[in-house]
Amino acid sequence: MATERTFIMVKPDGVARGLVGEVISRFERKGLTLENVRMLEIDEELARRHYEEHVEKPFFPELLEFITSGPVVAMAWSGESAISVCRGVMGATDPKQATPGTIRGDLGLMVTHNIVHGSDGPESAARELGIFFG
Ligand code: RTP
Ligand code: MG
Repeated sequence: MATERTFIMVKPDGVARGLVGEVISRFERKGLTLENVRMLEIDEELARRHYEEHVEKPFFPELLEFITSGPVVAMAWSGESAISVCRGVMGATDPKQATPGTIRGDLGLMVTHNIVHGSDGPESAARELGIFFG
């Protein structure tokens, strides 16, 4: 396995609830390295780029309203198998099904308000890091 870079984002609910430090701490304690961080607000155009694979899905209007509702914290993380390791630290998409011990399993309840985003593979990691960090 090789060192990878992945894109992680604390979503508006995580920022509003004061969970930025908690999320960063969990990735740091796992052994991953924070390489870049940036706070911003996502507008509709950026949301459509970032979530391009979901634009036609029935839940997209709700996702769009949520992800543009307040500031987010965008981050680049690196480490051994960082993409899948970060997904494991985050837990399943729906916090109701996410295992205790994961970010979503411990801290979330609703599928839209699931605190954190993480790239789901090498192609999306490269694409998303390019969108947010150039
Ligand atoms: P993310 O992209 O945010 O890291 O989440 P994910 O890979 O675990 O899940 P994905 O399938 O990519 O879905 C993106 C986000 O859309 C919202 N969602 N809502 N209401 C629904 O059925 C539904 N399904 C997905 C979630 O906020 C999910 O994180
Ligand atoms: Mg996804």
